[in-house]
Amino acid sequence: MIYLDNAASSHPKPEAVYRAADEALRLGANPGRSGHGSALSAARIIHETRELAAKLLGAGDSSRIIFTSNATHAINIALKGFSLKPGDHVVTSSMEHNSILRPLHALRQSGVEVSTVTADKTGIIEPEAVERAIKPQTRLVALTHGSNVTGALLDLKRVGEICKTRGVALLLDASQTAGVVPVDVVRDGVSMLTAPGHKGLLGPQGTGILYVSPSIDLAPLMEGGTGFASESRQMPEVFPERLEAGTMNTPGIAGLGAGISWLLEKGVENIRKGELEILSHLLARFKEIKGLWEYGPKDPEKRVAVVSFNLEGVDGAHLGYALDEVFSIAVRVGLHCAPDAHKTIGTFPGGAVRASFGPFNTIADADALCDALIKLSNLK
Ligand code: ALA
Repeated sequence: MIYLDNAASSHPKPEAVYRAADEALRLGANPGRSGHGSALSAARIIHETRELAAKLLGAGDSSRIIFTSNATHAINIALKGFSLKPGDHVVTSSMEHNSILRPLHALRQSGVEVSTVTADKTGIIEPEAVERAIKPQTRLVALTHGSNVTGALLDLKRVGEICKTRGVALLLDASQTAGVVPVDVVRDGVSMLTAPGHKGLLGPQGTGILYVSPSIDLAPLMEGGTGFASESRQMPEVFPERLEAGTMNTPGIAGLGAGISWLLEKGVENIRKGELEILSHLLARFKEIKGLWEYGPKDPEKRVAVVSFNLEGVDGAHLGYALDEVFSIAVRVGLHCAPDAHKTIGTFPGGAVRASFGPFNTIADADALCDALIKLSNLK
């Protein structure tokens, strides 16, 4: 099978990821809860992964890295823990995933005002439009770093500068960019960053990361055991425990640590270089395919390797089915949990077929997709 669904979950993982998760599961202890050797080893695994994540993101202090069960969980802690009050204002965009749209909708119902900046037809969000949407009541800008529909990248440098200058916090949804596009949270002015562990970070599902800048205090979304200060009914003030109630996903976090280690060894810049080679090749070959509509930015530098398309006259669901059944190519069809993004690019409600590439894909995989699409377009 040719796996082109890395935007949904990366596959395969580096071998070390499977090994680390297996070893941690067999270790069988609860980190931070007991003082015996196995529990200490489990705690060490969690700490080492935290350090690796901090290094990858340029976060000086690893205690500001919170482990979550996925990006949605991280976004919910960020948005709901930020203590937005009725009358506070948030700026977001039309390219957001439901993981941002739905919590913001819930906040809006409690009186928070939300403005949505509409991206262009390829999914690019204009930084100046974000700046224009900021007003005195704005406390937060919440944006995707890379669209899960068109791959369009945010001009993070510019948006980071704008937020800094205007004194507004920036929440960056790095679901499609963490481990793929280099980010430095301090340099880039990111107040909070959320990422799934199982996409570009190459870890297991059931893992996610929230980075919280030392300048931001978040209220916990959940209360519960933290392994210390047990006599108090209050959650501890200290990070990361303040936001990490309950037993950690040690096997998942061990696998995530191995994934991030692999990325640090390869270098995210090199991962990005490899992705750009495949993307440029694919976009050039797409021009050969008659009746093919591709929606993202034409310039590969302005996007990640997430490519949505339709074939004129062919239902997307049928196209995805044929790619899977006949050509053994795995893609994702539909709205990709991002209905407003599809409205923006003009593919709502039908959606599109999405191919998304990871570090183990090759130019040959992109060619296989193009060859299959050429055959299918000739059948019409
Ligand atoms: N958010 C993931 C995707 O875009 C699951 O497929």
